[in-house]
Amino acid sequence: MILVLGSTGKIGRELVPALLDRGAHVRALTRDPSRARIDPRAKVAAGDLDAFDPALLDGVDRVFVLTSGHGSDPLAQEQAVLKAAAGVSHVVKLSTTGVHFGQTDPISLVHAEAERAVREAGPDWTILRPGTFMDNRFAWLPAVRGDGVIRVPEGDPASALVHVRDIAEVAATVLTGDGHAGKIYPITGGEALTTRRQVEILADVLGRRLTYVEEPEAASRARMLGYGWPASAVDGIFELKRQSAGKEEIVFDTVRELLGRAPLTFADWAREHAGSFA
Ligand SMILES: NC(=O)c1ccc[n+]([C@@H]2O[C@H](COP(=O)([O-])OP(=O)(O)OC[C@H]3O[C@@H](n4cnc5c(N)ncnc54)[C@H](OP(=O)(O)O)[C@@H]3O)[C@@H](O)[C@H]2O)c1
Repeated sequence: MILVLGSTGKIGRELVPALLDRGAHVRALTRDPSRARIDPRAKVAAGDLDAFDPALLDGVDRVFVLTSGHGSDPLAQEQAVLKAAAGVSHVVKLSTTGVHFGQTDPISLVHAEAERAVREAGPDWTILRPGTFMDNRFAWLPAVRGDGVIRVPEGDPASALVHVRDIAEVAATVLTGDGHAGKIYPITGGEALTTRRQVEILADVLGRRLTYVEEPEAASRARMLGYGWPASAVDGIFELKRQSAGKEEIVFDTVRELLGRAPLTFADWAREHAGSFA
């Protein structure tokens, strides 16, 4: 049995069916099973990482550890799971390329600390370090549905964006296969794209005119605060962007090496989600 944390999130909702398709038994964690839409072949379990119940690990031999980027205290949550999971055989942790590049922004630092905890926990471990998700571009939804003007902060770095399904497929391969203990896998898409190019690709796929506008950081910051995001989270995002400039464009071959196929492209992602942007 594999326990999947974050089973309703961007990666989790792709990972659960990918594991089931490989014949694994899955226990899918969510805080609210009544609202969660989880593959019916999985066993859904209610639980909150802020008060982790060790009984969630009964009969579990492998754990996929993912905490929300917006969680209350992701490090404390992961430490609680690891403490309870000392007897499982293998833990797979979802981290970030920020750790790969030694970044010191708050998000990467927390993941670096959590990675250390995973390595010291006892069970076999594998660490997945994905770069920026293509799904982050859902932030453009209101602009695309509205006036078609996509505002991005000045200096937004080119990025080898990755499709969450590729991350999930890598995770499923690691969780159901052998030979991955003690490995650290950085995961990106197959090509680096400037943000302007991403907007052009989305416009081509949607058959719509979209206008790319760079705005001063202060304007982007004000907009994010307007969404109700905490100031510390907004600061963290900008610090991460500053530190990942010139690094986010690095392409890693992990998807091809582990899955034997090319990574999904941003155009694939745009086609898949064209209906949502309409
Ligand atoms: N976005 C990127 O570009 C990027 C890049 C690299 C790494 N990452 C990392 O990816 C990870 C996932 O972030 P995300 O924003 O994509 O989140 P997400 O996986 O889309 O959503 C959060 C998930 O966590 C669950 N969750 C949240 N709080 C919980 C709690 N207290 N107890 C139990 N479950 C809880 C939610 O489940 P329920 O609501 O159903 O309970 C949901 O399934 C983060 O560690 C982030 O640093 C993100």
